[in-house]
Order: sequence, then structure tokens, then C-alpha cells
Amino acid sequence: MQDRAALSRLLEWQMTMGADEAILDTPRDRLQPKPRAAPMPRPVASPIVTPTAPPVTAPQSAVLASARVRADAARDLVELRATVEAFDGCSLRRTATHTVFADGNAGAPLMLIGEAPGADEDRIGLPFVGRSGQLLDRMLAGIGIRRAENAYITNVLFWRPPGNRKPTPDETAICLPFVWRHIALMRPKVVVLCGGTATAALLNRTDGITRLRGRWFELPVPGLDRPVPTMATYHPSFLLRAPAHKSEAWRDLLSIQSKLISLK
Ligand code: URA
Repeated sequence: MQDRAALSRLLEWQMTMGADEAILDTPRDRLQPKPRAAPMPRPVASPIVTPTAPPVTAPQSAVLASARVRADAARDLVELRATVEAFDGCSLRRTATHTVFADGNAGAPLMLIGEAPGADEDRIGLPFVGRSGQLLDRMLAGIGIRRAENAYITNVLFWRPPGNRKPTPDETAICLPFVWRHIALMRPKVVVLCGGTATAALLNRTDGITRLRGRWFELPVPGLDRPVPTMATYHPSFLLRAPAHKSEAWRDLLSIQSKLISLK
């Protein structure tokens, strides 16, 4: 019995790490000798160019332009959801089971933005439904917030990165136009960024979450005439791994509660 439980935990761990995504539709004979690799071309000296923009590759910049046009064309959240679901410019969509758009009350004063769906979210199609989501719900309940009533939850990425790896800069950049439009259409009174990825992407800052959390920023959002008060805090999955930081997260929550009361 104990062995079965251990095996089942091992299998679950392998799936979380993305082992099932390595399985191909057709079998490959790995014992066949590999074709010889073509000789490497001799390196040609080229001038050193200092990059001035984030590293989005040339084909990606066309996809990025198309993402911007599509996002800006959405007139409400229903249209934006349909646009994101139909968008095939992000390669993560190919390995994901569901597009994970949002959950909660679209008329809520509070919008929370996480990193990307995990295995549970990908399976169910809703953000923050796994262990970290359950912790997030308990944390919000501590300040009298319930997602069905007065919170709206989404992520920077709408598709699960295989094996829950960190999203690449290109993947994040391609989803961002939709996230900005998401904020503009939802018009929250307060935005909370959960974890380093959402914080770096939306505040456009390179200092880590430990330095940025717990502070109020005025977030300029294209399409809104006023910046939105925004706070970064630890990601709940980090708090599951490092519960000693829960007291700092609790302070952040109390500050969020006061801000929401002051903006009523
Ligand atoms: N982590 C996130 O950042 N988002 C989710 O939806 C789930 C886990």
C-alpha cells in the first residue's frame, strides 16, 4: 500500500516536471544510428552590436505587432477572451490543454496577476486552482476578499509552460499586450502582482521581488486616464516553499486592504 502511494507520488512528480510532454505521437527508434551532423560553418567576424531593446527575435516582432493590434481591437472582456483563445502566436498554446484567461468577478475592485497556469490550472482552465491558488484564497479571505465576489484573478501567461518552467522573455512579451488590455478593460481600483515574473513584466523593473514587494506604485495603463495603484507581493507558491515569509505577505495584504477601503 505504502509502495503504491510512493509510486503514485513519483508519477505525479514526473508529470509535474513535464515527462508526459516528451512523449511523441509516433514512436522513434532511438537505437538507429544518428545521421552524421553537417560540419559547422567557420565563424565569420561580425561587428558587436549593443542591444537597445528587449531580446525579441525578428519573426517574433511580427507576432508581437499582431498581438498588439488584436488586443487593442477588443472592446470588452468577452471579446478579449475570444481574441486570446483564438491567438496562435504564442508557442505555449501548442502544448497546453486549455487557455487560462481569468476567474472571479470582472466588476471587482481588485485584480490579481500571477505568472502562468500550472498543471491543475491547465487541466481545469481556471487560474490559481491548485495548491498555490488555495493558499491565495485563504490569504485573501484573511482580509475579507472572496474571488467570486470582490476579486478578479489572471496571469501574465495564458498557457502553461511545459513542466512549469519559467516563461521565456519572448513568451512574456507576446502575452503582455493582452494583459495591458485586460487591465484597461477590467478597470480595477487596485492591482496586485503575485511574484517576480508579473512584477518584472508590468513594473518593467529588474530589482527582485524582495525589494519591490510591499510598496505602492502608480501603474500607467494604456487606455486608462489614471494610473492604477499597484502592489507586488510574494507568489503563493513561493510562500508554500518558504512559509517564513508569510508574515511579510500578511503585511502586504493589510496594506492592500487599507488601500481598498480608502478608495471606496
Ligand atoms: N501560479 C500562477 O502564477 N498562476 C496560476 O494560475 C497558478 C499557479
